[in-house]
Amino acid sequence: MSIISQDLKDKYHFNISEIRNLLQTIESQKLDFSTTELIKELKRKIEKIKSEFLSKKGIIPQLINELSNLSPDQKRELGKEINQFKNEIENDIKTINKQIEKIERKIKYQFDIDLSITYLPSQKGSFHIISIVQEELINVFSELGFFVMDGVEIEDEYHNFEALNIPQDHPARDMWDTFYFKDGILRTHTSNMQIRILEKYKPPIKVISIGKCYRRDNLDATHSFQFHQLEGFAIDEDINFLDLIRTLYRFVNKYFGPETKVNFIPSYFPFTEPSAEMSISCFYCQQNDENCSVCKGTGWIEILGCGMINPIVLKNLDIDPDKYSGFAFGLGIERIAMLKYKIPDIRMFFENYIEFNKLFSEIN
Ligand code: DAH
Repeated sequence: MSIISQDLKDKYHFNISEIRNLLQTIESQKLDFSTTELIKELKRKIEKIKSEFLSKKGIIPQLINELSNLSPDQKRELGKEINQFKNEIENDIKTINKQIEKIERKIKYQFDIDLSITYLPSQKGSFHIISIVQEELINVFSELGFFVMDGVEIEDEYHNFEALNIPQDHPARDMWDTFYFKDGILRTHTSNMQIRILEKYKPPIKVISIGKCYRRDNLDATHSFQFHQLEGFAIDEDINFLDLIRTLYRFVNKYFGPETKVNFIPSYFPFTEPSAEMSISCFYCQQNDENCSVCKGTGWIEILGCGMINPIVLKNLDIDPDKYSGFAFGLGIERIAMLKYKIPDIRMFFENYIEFNKLFSEIN
């Protein structure tokens, strides 16, 4: 015989499995504030079972009461059954409470102290867009056989001007007005590196050098007192203007795309003779949009100055212009970055506005 009816057992098992299901649901979903609500509900259900079965006036004490009128043998047998049922209930509740504690601990550390690091990846550092463009250019010119050399920003007038055939009173100096100090100047272009490098290394040579330059310019959307340039030059026997065109054409095709065309127009630089300015066909509208914001509808974008190194410069460096010739070119990194990544204002590069920097964090 049995003192606990099947109905009662079924009722208990139904209630406890309902609690287990709820627990499983909580464990399987992401922890958030709704979890706290579910746990409250869970605890209410457990309290209900406890008061129904285990409290002073609950079912278990009632059953034990019922034993008092029975014979010792029946007491022992049925008492054992009641105890087993009581143990089952207590163990179930204990296990469930442990699981609840675990979830509560997780919630506490997630919400109170917030040890989560989920926002950290987006805070990961990345390269500045100028560094990215420099790296891109170095890659392309390295493929074309150019060595990369670092330069100096604090210069003297000889290396920045005179050696490059810009004498003291020459009007061309106005184009490169700069910051003067007692003992030197800030370089106005990377062309000083032609002199610095060729004082140390003799031709044949093929080098690029990248770095900061300074000018006494007022700030506006396209001018800054500080910017970056890339200078490139090659000197050997029999280098001619066609080598310059070929080299720059290959650079443009690699960097702006294989369909890009180049166009040279005569220009003037004291350190090159002849000199030219090179434009590329608009890689943005493919010369097809009168309202293109990149080429302003002209179809062409001017990107660099270049020419054959002036024999006067070679002589200044004790390089025999009858034996050696060379070409040189110089381009503005900011200008290239503004064109390629459609950045409208040069000031954005150094305003240190983090949201601007983040725009390019995906490229590197
Ligand atoms: N240094 C020139 C500038 O800052 C750019 C330049 C033009 C560099 C022609 C060159 C060159 O090497 O050949 O405006």
